Amino acid sequence: MSVRTPDFLDAAAAVRAADAADVIPIHALAVDNAMFAPDDMAGFAEMLQGYLDGSLDQHRWIVADDPADRVVGAAYYAPEPFADRLWNLYFLAVHPGEHRKGIGTLLTSHVEESLRNAGSQVARVLIVETSSTDEYQAARRFYERDGFDREARVREFYGPGDHKIVYWKSLVETGD
Ligand SMILES: CC(C)(COP(=O)(O)OP(=O)(O)OC[C@H]1O[C@@H](n2cnc3c(N)ncnc32)[C@H](O)[C@@H]1OP(=O)(O)O)[C@@H](O)C(=O)NCCC(=O)NCCS
Repeated sequence: MSVRTPDFLDAAAAVRAADAADVIPIHALAVDNAMFAPDDMAGFAEMLQGYLDGSLDQHRWIVADDPADRVVGAAYYAPEPFADRLWNLYFLAVHPGEHRKGIGTLLTSHVEESLRNAGSQVARVLIVETSSTDEYQAARRFYERDGFDREARVREFYGPGDHKIVYWKSLVETGD
């Protein structure tokens, strides 16, 4: 499949809010991309729980379906606690067989558009955090190409030699 065709990009159903039936496909995206171990299912379901039961009402999970209605990508974003209208893209993954087809861009475009539409009183900045390791080189390239600034590095955050890289993007025109 290719999502670069105007038909697919124009299809309103391509990106939608996640629901309870998406927990297993989203978990599979994380495992298949080696982001989490297969036995992290409980922790993963917990991440989704607050969104699904409505207790974390500003937390948003979205998924991208392919034309056969298979979940091929997912993103999770929420406001960062203790920050001023700064949102964090906590999770982004595309099925490994579907990389480099524009699905990641489709998801981040949706995240940014929804936050820009919410207005500067709700969202001023979007950040995303990733690892400095070779395994996440594609992610770093992706965020840099997507217009994020490489803002900070927290040394040894994820383990010895595994630093956290923070990417930053303004969602507003001025310093609002
Ligand atoms: C990072 C990720 C979400 C990107 O999704 P994607 O659908 O493959 O990305 P897109 O097709 O929209 O790529 C857009 C651009 O990003 C850059 N890019 C994406 N993957 C890249 C790679 N492997 N190497 C170099 N550049 C890459 C390219 O510039 C690409 O444009 P191009 O294909 O026209 O050259 C995907 O690789 C993924 O799921 N990785 C595993 C999980 C992960 O690392 N998530 C992020 C954790 S913070």
